[in-house]
Parts: sequence; C-alpha cells; structure tokens
Amino acid sequence: MAKLTRRDLVWIVPLAATGGFFGWFGLRAWRIQFTKTSPGEPRWKDGPKVAIARVGELARVWDFREFAYPIAGLGELKSILIRVPKPEPGGASAGGAYFLALSRICTHQGCLVNYVPDPEAGAIAYNYRTDHPFLGCPCHFSAFDPLQAGKAVFGPARYPLPRLRLAIEDGTIYATGHEVPLRPIEGRVGLREWSA
Ligand code: FES
Repeated sequence: MAKLTRRDLVWIVPLAATGGFFGWFGLRAWRIQFTKTSPGEPRWKDGPKVAIARVGELARVWDFREFAYPIAGLGELKSILIRVPKPEPGGASAGGAYFLALSRICTHQGCLVNYVPDPEAGAIAYNYRTDHPFLGCPCHFSAFDPLQAGKAVFGPARYPLPRLRLAIEDGTIYATGHEVPLRPIEGRVGLREWSA
C-alpha cells in the first residue's frame, strides 16, 4: 500500500472534514424532517381540577386562552386552550365546539412557544407556511400544529407539545391532568421558561 505523503494530507484532510460536515448536516436534516412523532391517544396523569374559561368566552374557532396549570413538585405549566375547528385526540367538545389544550413549553429545549394566529405573519416570522394558526417557538423556530394535536411540524423539535386533559361541566372548561411523558421535563433537555 502506497504511503501517504504530507502533500496527500493537504487535500485528504480538508476533503474528509468537508465530507464529515455534510454527512452530519444531512443526517441531522433527515432526522429533523422525517422523525417527528405523531401524537396518538394520550396517556394521562391526574392533576388538580382547574377552571380555564367558560365555553362562551371562546365563541369563535381559533379563539384561545392562555393559562397556568399547577404540577406537583414542578410549578406551573404554561399552557394554552384553543378552540379548534374539528375534534382532536386528547381534546374535548361541547355543543359542537371543539377544544384542545397544549403545554407551551417547547419540546426541543424548553423555550416558551407563542400562539401565532395569522399564518401569513407566521410564514415571515417562522419560515413555516400553513393556512391556519399554529404555535411557534422563537428560539429555534419550531412550529407545532393544533390540527395535528400539537405535532411538531417544522424546525428542530421532534416531539409534540404535551396535551392537558379537559373536562367541560356546566359550560366551564377545566384542565384535570396532563399527558405523560411531559416533555421536555421528562426528556433529556433542560428548561428555559418553566414557571418563569
Ligand atoms: S427551544 Fe423551541 S425550537 Fe429550540
């Protein structure tokens, strides 16, 4: 076998480094795009019963209400209740109105996601195009779709936003527990906005 000379290394080393970078980049892009988890039926953990809103306060589809849900030993989970146009797994309904409640803690690295009611503005701010409101993370621009039960649909987040269990009684919408695992608290990364 021919011996490598110093002159060979002049092109082999940069070539290997470039190949390694593009390989890593391609693998990362593939993982981000094709390994996002779809939310199915949730597993719930019981929690306190907390009133969020009256049904009539979310009179139109896409009306929303932000709220904080107490989690024993952890603090308050910043969350959002959204009136959605169709039934979602883990949501609730009353009189033909459908609701879904999601954690606002991004499953990527724990930043606080924002409700983006205007998809056109969202396309500019988050580089994600859709025809309906979504939840966007300002840290690394992940987007989460309320019409797919909170699935991560764009950006580096792979897991959906955890859902909160809803109950509707006498016209009041309550949160009564949360989905497990409660990502990212029960995942591998830390939180930036938890209870901030
Ligand atoms: S923390 Fe939300 S995309 Fe990174």
